[in-house]
Amino acid sequence: MPNKNTFDIKCINKLIHKYLRPGMLSIDPFANKNRIAKITNDLDPEMKAEYCMDALDFLKQLKPESIDFVLYDPPYSPRQVSECYKKMGRTVNMETTQASFWGNLKKEIARVTRAGGIVISFGWNTNGIGKTNGFEILEILTVSHGGQHNDTLCTVERKITGLFD
Ligand SMILES: C[S@@+](CC[C@H](N)C(=O)[O-])C[C@H]1O[C@@H](n2cnc3c(N)ncnc32)[C@H](O)[C@@H]1O
Repeated sequence: MPNKNTFDIKCINKLIHKYLRPGMLSIDPFANKNRIAKITNDLDPEMKAEYCMDALDFLKQLKPESIDFVLYDPPYSPRQVSECYKKMGRTVNMETTQASFWGNLKKEIARVTRAGGIVISFGWNTNGIGKTNGFEILEILTVSHGGQHNDTLCTVERKITGLFD
């Protein structure tokens, strides 16, 4: 069955630990209650992550090419963004629900990830951070939840050199 805590799903947790190595500087900008990454952030103060910022602002404060490993598990749809923002009394507008919401996050993730670094993206598509942002796909895991539920797609990518050369 789907679990709102994505990383509690056994095969997803196993996938993360296949790529996450000790000593890697790892970040999770949408951490919820998860503490797998070294640096965690979540907009919701109840999650008590290390940082409580909008994910885009959190990423913008990081130095270029400084991060080895990124877990990217944002709200998957405009509806999920709206639900989350309304819960926190935040404004829901065009900016927060259009495709650029995810596009801007991806650009920042590409900026902060070092060459050779790993990003695992979760959602309902396998676009990941993308070739145009300098990434190649290493592996895709499809997690089926049965019934009428959407699958969770997990896309593992590596940043290839040259983007900021
Ligand atoms: C899909 S859940 C992440 C689940 C987490 N990976 C886990 O396994 O428990 C998305 C999380 O992003 C947070 N969130 C939503 N919009 C955000 C934003 N703009 N900036 C930071 N966090 C945000 C929500 O509070 C929620 O905890």
